[in-house]
Amino acid sequence: MTRDEQQLALIEALVPEGIRAIQPYKVADATGMVKLDAMENPWHWPDAMVEEWMAQLRSVDINRYPSASAPKLKAAIRKQMGVSDTDDILLGNGSDELIQIISMMVSQAGRPIMALEPSFVMYKMVAMWMGVPFVPVTLDQDFQINLVDTLAAIASERPSVIFIAQPNNPTGNLFDLASIKSIAAASEGLVILDEAYTAFSDSDLLPMLAEFPNVLVMRTLSKVGLAGLRLGMLIGSKAWIAELDKLRLPYNINVLTQLSTEFAIKHFHVFEAQTQTIRENRTRLFDALSAMQGLRVWPSAANFLLVKTERVPAKTVFERLRSHGILVKILDGAHPLLKDCLRINVSSIEENDMLLKAMAHSLIE
Ligand SMILES: Cc1ncc(COP(=O)(O)O)c(C=O)c1O
Repeated sequence: MTRDEQQLALIEALVPEGIRAIQPYKVADATGMVKLDAMENPWHWPDAMVEEWMAQLRSVDINRYPSASAPKLKAAIRKQMGVSDTDDILLGNGSDELIQIISMMVSQAGRPIMALEPSFVMYKMVAMWMGVPFVPVTLDQDFQINLVDTLAAIASERPSVIFIAQPNNPTGNLFDLASIKSIAAASEGLVILDEAYTAFSDSDLLPMLAEFPNVLVMRTLSKVGLAGLRLGMLIGSKAWIAELDKLRLPYNINVLTQLSTEFAIKHFHVFEAQTQTIRENRTRLFDALSAMQGLRVWPSAANFLLVKTERVPAKTVFERLRSHGILVKILDGAHPLLKDCLRINVSSIEENDMLLKAMAHSLIE
């Protein structure tokens, strides 16, 4: 056998079939493109803030391991988010890592992991990595929770965890709070309320922690402007966080992220102002796209808009936008409810205008 053949035989013997069947998470090449595909904040920091940050970075002990439990950063987050003294915070290398830690914790419970769909793909992907059955419950035609179906699925499947993104990705809408509460009340498992986009909405589910013993709230700094630093947080009772913390690799938040996020939180007004601008730009972009013939646009409480192309296939529009130098996310094929859908980041006025111009050309039949 050649070396390649030997390796293939070994992979077949050692890598579970479920993992061999997984399609890897693809990140599109965005070199030279106007990047409207990944819900990033389009702006860097003001010059004076960058200089102050650089000065602090000079003193980082890059030769030392980071603080394993990052108490200073957690204290800053606690204050910034108004986390109660009775709750604790688990930090992750992005909230992606927290989804992985949660799923790892329940992987031997002999129960499935559940999520509403369409939603964030990582819930399903991580369940597949762990070999845990994944049970999706489909949202209704307006992307709202189908409460009867969801409660029935909870009763029959008894999931160890249910992931709910509020606002939801990729649909952008907020779910009805009463439905979320009914799910939390009916579930014997954990309910993870993923508030990745909460800064762009008026929703705050932290108060649910005091009401439900099985609820944890997940947030991230990625969408408000710190995607490159990778910092996600899970907030919940001290008892839950203590169990989950056992599954965290000791130094998962590196020294540069710890210092930089602490610094950024001191300047949080900058991110709040940028978030407010995105919210205003969202209204303008929604109105402009809605006015275009052949596009349906859904209202959004996040920093992106879900649009459906009604006359030209979404794949054609996606390619045409790309040829104009604009990268958006193609969702067609990801879920039946997302047929001919694209997800488009809300950005600066300049980038939004570039998108609108390119979109007008891309919708020609
Ligand atoms: C709903 C939701 N949760 C979590 C994440 C992961 O965010 P991060 O790992 O950057 O913190 C995303 C990213 O797209 C998301 O849409």
